[in-house]
Amino acid sequence: MNDYTVDSCRIIQLPRHHSTDRRGNLSVVEAFRTVPFDVRRVYYIYDVPGGESRGAHAHRSLHQLIVAVSGSFTVSVTDGVETRSYRLDRPYMGLYLVPGMWRTLDDFSSGAVCLVLASEAYDEDDYIRDYAGFLDFRQIPDKKALSR
Ligand code: TYD
Repeated sequence: MNDYTVDSCRIIQLPRHHSTDRRGNLSVVEAFRTVPFDVRRVYYIYDVPGGESRGAHAHRSLHQLIVAVSGSFTVSVTDGVETRSYRLDRPYMGLYLVPGMWRTLDDFSSGAVCLVLASEAYDEDDYIRDYAGFLDFRQIPDKKALSR
């Protein structure tokens, strides 16, 4: 369990450096400056077929920044009580996710690339992959289990 809620997640506007001579834009993420965590790992999700979804898990202690560096997709985040949805469609907008949030990524546009900056190395033990286990982690009674 942790004290984070969906309200602890937020959109972070990344700096955008326009070139004055039409050579395009540049955005940057710096650990402890743009994002409030160290960046120890970067991965990206791409070639997601239309209609597919990713995620559907939570992390016990990982902080992440999710950026649609190309195209768009929707990230739904819940702490087990409140849910928020974010359409990410700009390469200079990052969604900061705190630990203990169940997230689902879907509605990927064609050619979408989802860049993820993470605070720790990959560790399968940090994942919570079933929703009942997530509610247990959040110390929220499972309504379905209660009604059985
Ligand atoms: P996963 O995080 O389950 O992806 P998603 O939730 O988007 O479907 O990861 C998919 C696979 O990739 C899984 O077998 C673990 C592996 N993986 C790594 O080996 N290292 C990593 O840093 C990540 C994020 C995943």
